Amino acid sequence: MNAPLAQRIPFPPGLRDTLAAMLGERFTTAAAPCGHHGHDESHFPDAVPDAVAFPESTEEVSAIVRACAAHGVPLIPFGAGSSLEGHVLAVRGGLSMDFTRMNRVLAVNVEDLDCRVEPGVTRKQLNAVLHGSGLFFPIDPGADASLGGMCATRASGTNAVRYGTMREVVLGLTVVLADGSVIRTGGRARKSSAGYDLTRLFVGSEGTLGIMTEITLRLSPVPEAVAAAVCAFPTVDDAVQTVIQTIQMGVPIARIELLDAMMVRATNAYSKTTLREAPMLFFEFHGSPASVKEQAQTVQELAAGNGGLDFEWAEQPEDRSRLWAARHSALFATIALRPGARALTTDVCVPISCLADCIAATEQDLATTGLVRTIVGHVGDGNFHVVLLVDPEDEDEIERAEAASRRIVQHALDMGGTCTGEHGIGIGKQDFLVAEHGPAVDVMRTIKRALDPANLLNPGKVVPGL
Ligand code: LAC
Ligand code: ZN
Repeated sequence: MNAPLAQRIPFPPGLRDTLAAMLGERFTTAAAPCGHHGHDESHFPDAVPDAVAFPESTEEVSAIVRACAAHGVPLIPFGAGSSLEGHVLAVRGGLSMDFTRMNRVLAVNVEDLDCRVEPGVTRKQLNAVLHGSGLFFPIDPGADASLGGMCATRASGTNAVRYGTMREVVLGLTVVLADGSVIRTGGRARKSSAGYDLTRLFVGSEGTLGIMTEITLRLSPVPEAVAAAVCAFPTVDDAVQTVIQTIQMGVPIARIELLDAMMVRATNAYSKTTLREAPMLFFEFHGSPASVKEQAQTVQELAAGNGGLDFEWAEQPEDRSRLWAARHSALFATIALRPGARALTTDVCVPISCLADCIAATEQDLATTGLVRTIVGHVGDGNFHVVLLVDPEDEDEIERAEAASRRIVQHALDMGGTCTGEHGIGIGKQDFLVAEHGPAVDVMRTIKRALDPANLLNPGKVVPGL
């Protein structure tokens, strides 16, 4: 489904000619590439752009923005297309700006533990470049997302409990503004008190305030020792209590992920694992050999106190990779439970002491819905997903899933949580943004209007009514 025609303007022939002359084959209005840029991994119907551009430099991005601004045509930045809230959908038509050709790692400063990349670099590509340097990029949302997209959504994932989110690791940005001008924010200094923190304003702005063309990132030393394990529990609550105690004790755990029994069943079927079909935690410990041993011992004791079975260790690096690959396939494993289904994914995050109550209330609520679903999450951060399967043709089922999602968010907000820990607002969570932030959303709207008065940068996303 594309946006109502009233909201789309026809792509101006003058702009088409300008961009074709500027970019040659790196500009297209062909159906196949436009179609590819009209969807992401969310359950929302496709919204196809009128054209796609593949810039290669900040100067080109700036020139494209100026040309689109002159014609009043919307622009949607596009990375890997792995977003989960419809961020890249061209709901008002316009130009999709694909960053796959801006995928150079521009600098790696090993002594300072930082690097500078173009936005089309994916996280796996960056880690391949860093291989052997003693450093790695720790933010791991599962998908091989582009770093531009990860900045735009303030992404996190399985390692965030130890290494933080994109909020913590982005040191500075080059941004093309809505009028085509170019600014730099932040820098390479570890800290700064110089004025408003524009870097953090752009991180998480989902392409609505400016277009990032360079990103300076903080890196982490590769840990000396790494150990991963799984542990099954009698109930989800037993597993979650173990997580809460681990965090409250200050164990510097690198990953601690919950899978409910249905999620484990889906994982076994999809990733050919042989995990016990029970609520389960996946763990990873990083540090010196002595510290890893001590952390593991503490967590094993906590798990045993909550009825956990023995830890099963992933001994070899290949076993560890298999385990995390299985975890990272959770979304696709869930979708495979019901061929043809699309996933509506919730993403609440609550203060850690509320996590058990939040998950219990969520499970109780879901039991009444009859929807096929799994629960999986980055529970060390108080963040979990319910993946609800819907038949994209069944409006009644979609409405039931959306109603369940609204109730899950309300539980989380009542506990001081957020409607989205890592996926962002996009087109689907705008009402929740208002429920969560109230009048602060008016300040967001004021900022958006100041930076993008013609509302051409990814319109229809984040702030409702724009
Ligand atoms: C995950 C994605 C859905 O945690 O965020 O697998
Ligand atoms: Zn996640």
